[in-house]
Amino acid sequence: VSAAAIDHARLNAMPFGDVVFSQRSIRRYRPEPVPIPMEDLQVIMEAAVRAPNGGNAQPARFVLITDRARIEKMASLYKDAWWAKRRDEYGWRGIDDIPADEKNLLSAARLAETMDRVSAIVLAFGRARNRFGQAENDATSVVPAIQNLMLAARALGIGSIPTRLHPDVLERVYDLFGVPEGAYLHLMIPLGYPASPRAFGLSRRLPTSETVFLNHWGDAVPWA
Ligand SMILES: Cc1cc2nc3c(=O)[nH]c(=O)nc-3n(C[C@H](O)[C@H](O)[C@H](O)COP(=O)(O)O)c2cc1C
Repeated sequence: VSAAAIDHARLNAMPFGDVVFSQRSIRRYRPEPVPIPMEDLQVIMEAAVRAPNGGNAQPARFVLITDRARIEKMASLYKDAWWAKRRDEYGWRGIDDIPADEKNLLSAARLAETMDRVSAIVLAFGRARNRFGQAENDATSVVPAIQNLMLAARALGIGSIPTRLHPDVLERVYDLFGVPEGAYLHLMIPLGYPASPRAFGLSRRLPTSETVFLNHWGDAVPWA
């Protein structure tokens, strides 16, 4: 199917401003995963590849995982990787070890525990010489596509969140999905229907009066 034949008008069901201003990380998915229609997945991926990339070299590659058995394997790898990192960093072994005021980490831990509830997973790759290290050569060409992907998903009522995998599990991920030499996994993006209808909403950010300068670093914008 050519891009011209893609029914991108299905994304117009929600006004663009509402999409951008209600897109945020979704970490709780419905307990019984509902498959995402293939037409929705297609328009999401078509939106992803419309994003800018350096020199139009189009280095990004994606593995779209819809097979339940593979989603469960990936979810299990993600969970192992998430806890391995927290064990190394803080000595935590389970949710009960996380202090109650660590809201973000508690929420991230719950996502790690329930990653098998998502309806699909996108693995987003670029090229790199050292695919087990930090050589994120193509990050600036891959990340815009992921943002387009997440916005398109949100327009269809599908939640998502960018996640990074601990380098320790990369080899297992590459083996599981037959990823060739030279490809580097930047981000894993689960997709699914949120557990709560109120899950989407305005993200919390610093005021732009603190993060945007007019004409010169430190100079106030007129709306400050
Ligand atoms: C590069 C990157 C990696 C991230 N990795 C994780 C992750 O592994 N687990 C997680 O729960 N959230 C992850 N996030 C989501 C951020 O925590 C989230 O975007 C941030 O807290 C802002 O919240 P919001 O997206 O709801 O506005 C990641 C985001 C980015 C951009």
